[in-house]
Amino acid sequence: MKASELKRKYIDFFVKKHSHSEIAGASLIPENDPTVLFTTAGMHPLVPYLMGESHPAGTRLVDCQKCLRTDDIDEVGDDTHCTFFEMLGNWSLGDYFKKEAISMSYEFLTDKEHGLGIDPERLNVSCFAGDNDAPKDEESAGYWEELGFKRASEHGPGPMRIWFYGKKENWWGPAGQTGPCGPDTEMFFDTGKEPCSRCAEDGVDCDCGKYVEIWNDVFMEYNKTADGKYEPLEQKNVDTGLGLERVIALMQGVPTHYDTELFLPVLEFLREKATAQDITEAERIIADHIRAAVFIIGDPKGVMPSNTDQGYVLRRLIRRSIRQMRKIGIDDSVCDVAKIFIDIYPELSDFADHILTALEKEEAQFCRTLHQGEKEFEKILPNLLRGDAKILSGRLAFKLYDTYGFPLEMTKDLAKENGLIVDEEGFHQAFEKHQEMSRAGAEAKFKGGLQDDSAATTALHTATHLLLAALRQVLGDHVYQKGSNITAERLRFDFSHPEAMTDEQKSEVEKLVNEWIEADLEVGCEEMTPDEAHERGAVGVFGERYGNIIKVYTVKGASKEICGGPHVEKTGGMGKFRIKKEQSSSSGVRRIKAVLE
Ligand code: ALA
Repeated sequence: MKASELKRKYIDFFVKKHSHSEIAGASLIPENDPTVLFTTAGMHPLVPYLMGESHPAGTRLVDCQKCLRTDDIDEVGDDTHCTFFEMLGNWSLGDYFKKEAISMSYEFLTDKEHGLGIDPERLNVSCFAGDNDAPKDEESAGYWEELGFKRASEHGPGPMRIWFYGKKENWWGPAGQTGPCGPDTEMFFDTGKEPCSRCAEDGVDCDCGKYVEIWNDVFMEYNKTADGKYEPLEQKNVDTGLGLERVIALMQGVPTHYDTELFLPVLEFLREKATAQDITEAERIIADHIRAAVFIIGDPKGVMPSNTDQGYVLRRLIRRSIRQMRKIGIDDSVCDVAKIFIDIYPELSDFADHILTALEKEEAQFCRTLHQGEKEFEKILPNLLRGDAKILSGRLAFKLYDTYGFPLEMTKDLAKENGLIVDEEGFHQAFEKHQEMSRAGAEAKFKGGLQDDSAATTALHTATHLLLAALRQVLGDHVYQKGSNITAERLRFDFSHPEAMTDEQKSEVEKLVNEWIEADLEVGCEEMTPDEAHERGAVGVFGERYGNIIKVYTVKGASKEICGGPHVEKTGGMGKFRIKKEQSSSSGVRRIKAVLE
């Protein structure tokens, strides 16, 4: 089974057999969500709907979502970890719950005609054991028992067993710091390997490779609040995730996802070109990172390499791959690797020129300093090796970053190859001292946001719509939203505009927004097709990432924008809008920080 067949089969199963609506996957860059840099799970773009907003496509949804996670970037190179991946998922927004979700998952996994046809004897499952925040999930275990599964606590390990674990294993979410989450039930495929001593005892919670997790059904019945409490959600949802790459590797009976059609052509290219002998880790890092990079650059929101936020993650991925290629003796451009991925993924073909130009530029820029940086490192190496500590100081790691553009992972690779460890703490300290704004590990720096759907956050979200409308009136129609980041305290809004705003322009924008707030305008929401939205003059990115029916929010007489919500019902009482700062964000993009006081 090829990846494309698995996608089709999954979507058809839920659409045709279980009345779900297929929705388009969202951008890799989250909309209005400041808690993370990238979309990390299929549920991520659906957070407002999991919190109770109505979704235009209904209460049963299915899609394939492109995701990116960088937490385990250092592990890439082993058999399982990847940064970019695709997640198939089905959702119930206050519709079906545990019984139906489990029964559908089981049917898809085992049905020979409409599903994967896995022998039930190859399956094990796990359920939440309960703790102070939520009770043991006896209900889910009961449904698995109805399907013929038995509790491992009574019957020992074996086929079709149910295991219970705590929050670390059997709880999912929220995707950021706050938001919908809940206990989950996970499904595991038994590869048939001999159990190791751990899985013979503790079951599927073991990474020796005998059991591979294939699917996760999350029962989102709680909302985690900013103070760490778990409140029951009024709307009980199901959120599921099945990792595409992992499952096709299992279905094809190959050892890892690198052995599937999604990676093999790239690995064959690298193997043919490499002069070094043992290249397994390097070829995997290159393939994983370049695949992620082409999808980030090819995203409708179009990120480019830079020193901040998503742009910096992208830069790290590209630069690390370039160095890995040079290390195994390949002088070809990373563009040659990217071209193979563009052939593998037809959806990238429209963006091919853009992707290749961006990669070429980054490669040219980095290659100017790569060699010098490596020489500098080699010069210092004997000194570093002389000491007992075998530590590469944070200061040096920062110098390699600052002067030669070496991302931390790359310096860590260099250090590891020479038996050294990088003082990462020291690197971050040096980093913060020099560049408060461009933190490498930007993933963790945001707090709060729309995920908490508090009154303050919702009002700031509506304020961004008014701000965009005002900017377009004052500066012109070339102004489009380029990014947005909202916490309960402030909004940050990036928009296209070539130069700094004058003080007059800023006051004019503030004045307009405040007039609209004082006029207590009604905020309305309508559902329509993207074409209709376009005809009616709604502002927004028109592209395939929206489904067939989209939401358009109108602030009467002020703004009309495509958006998922939520928003205030009337603008009165939002507070006084004030621009705190207007600065450059990147080339051709300005950034405003503003508050409601
Ligand atoms: N959101 C769940 C996951 O990512 C399904 O595993």
